[in-house]
Amino acid sequence: MTESMRTEAPFVEAMRAYRHGHTTAFHTPGYKLGAGAPADLIEALGERFLSSDVAIAGGLDDTQTSGSALRRAEALAADAWGAERAFFTANGSSSGLQALVMTLTGLSDEIIVPRNAHKALLAGLILSGARPVWVEPLIDEVWQIAVNVPLERYATAIEAHPRARAVFVTSPSYNGYCADLAGLATLAHAAGMPLVVDQAWGAHLRFSPELPLDAMAAGADAAVISVHKQLAALSGASVVLAAGERIDAERLRTMVTMLCTTSPLSSMYLSIDAARRQMVEDGEALWGAALRLAALARERVSAIPGLSVLDRDEALRPGSVDFDPVRLTISGAGLGLSGYELERLLRSDHAIAIEAADPHNIVANITFGDSDATVDRLVIALETISSRAAAKGAGATTVESPKLPLFTGLACSPREAFFGPSEALPLRACVGRVSAEMVVPYPPGIPVLGPGEEISSETVDYLIEAAARGAYVHGPRDLSLATLLVVSNV
Ligand SMILES: Cc1ncc(COP(=O)(O)O)c(C=O)c1O
Repeated sequence: MTESMRTEAPFVEAMRAYRHGHTTAFHTPGYKLGAGAPADLIEALGERFLSSDVAIAGGLDDTQTSGSALRRAEALAADAWGAERAFFTANGSSSGLQALVMTLTGLSDEIIVPRNAHKALLAGLILSGARPVWVEPLIDEVWQIAVNVPLERYATAIEAHPRARAVFVTSPSYNGYCADLAGLATLAHAAGMPLVVDQAWGAHLRFSPELPLDAMAAGADAAVISVHKQLAALSGASVVLAAGERIDAERLRTMVTMLCTTSPLSSMYLSIDAARRQMVEDGEALWGAALRLAALARERVSAIPGLSVLDRDEALRPGSVDFDPVRLTISGAGLGLSGYELERLLRSDHAIAIEAADPHNIVANITFGDSDATVDRLVIALETISSRAAAKGAGATTVESPKLPLFTGLACSPREAFFGPSEALPLRACVGRVSAEMVVPYPPGIPVLGPGEEISSETVDYLIEAAARGAYVHGPRDLSLATLLVVSNV
């Protein structure tokens, strides 16, 4: 692809042509480019935004050429992110991951997956009928978060399951730990398996040599990137990437279209196209500036009494060969503050909203959308919180997390357990039964149970303790964890 092609943005251009053509719309959405929109919608989103909400098929393109601007934009995205094929999704990396699982596995196929995978991957297993071979990540005992899965654990799983259809890995992790993707690609390929990377948090990596190696450059066969997380795309706008013979790209396209709406918000695709061009043209400079800001923020927050920030040196562990420094994981344990309390104080007293909080930490995300002023606000707010806590005489706290129970074993596939007959039982009565649902307490975001897994007394003890601590849980129907759905003994 030539340099001048790389700076084209076909989807942006198609939308502009539609607008400049003063087209009269007899297609969806029903509010007709905003003309029929209620006042509160116009006030919230603006006439300009609503007038760009144009159906793709029949609106942006006529029904004969349907999708041509989209296909060109996807080809440019593939080129920009180092892939051969790219597919836009308006439903996030979540549906991208599911499409990849469904492309690579069918009923009862084995697939090697990290136990700290995002819950969307578990949903993919339920949809496809595959059987997971779990590989366990290390847990950082100080920060109480999942690190990555050491390479040796992947090697052992691959050796024990030579017929597995694919190897999945999450990198960067939520806290910025980056896996040894090149090492994993070598391992997987030697066993004839494709490597798929959940790179939801790494859409930016490719655009600065100062950032960790990205999935496709490391030799991965496929990856998902949430362009809306680190780059300038609208929420939910993501791309699925594929390269080489190990992925059937046509089947992948079928799966993406099966899982995604037929009526995506065209502005989402426009935003991927614009974000990609922005990165191709200015990514290195923008991320260079963001990295300087992140380094400054890290230095200043680390100097605040009672606060600590997860640093590169601590992050390099078995399974993690690099670190994305734009993720600021901050602990207020030295002030006796939990992550939730820190989040609440930042929001209520300083109008600062952070990316995530858990019982131990908060995560603040720095991008090229930040400035000296935004970093300053965060630092000053944290300084104020620190000095107020010190004035109150708050002391250090350590929260001892219960030890994660070991994976017990799979009685049936996640799909069979999830869709088969099930019943809700009080938690204590679940010992010895098979779970029909997933239970993922945060942190560390590792499933304690997936559908199809045998339930041990250790698991039940862990969940009772997690519930007593008010853990934030994903997955089960009864979020209080008073009951759990188990497979019926039919
Ligand atoms: C590691 C990881 N993978 C996948 C996803 C899902 O991404 P999306 O929100 O684009 O669906 C997330 C969301 O936070 C994530 O953290």
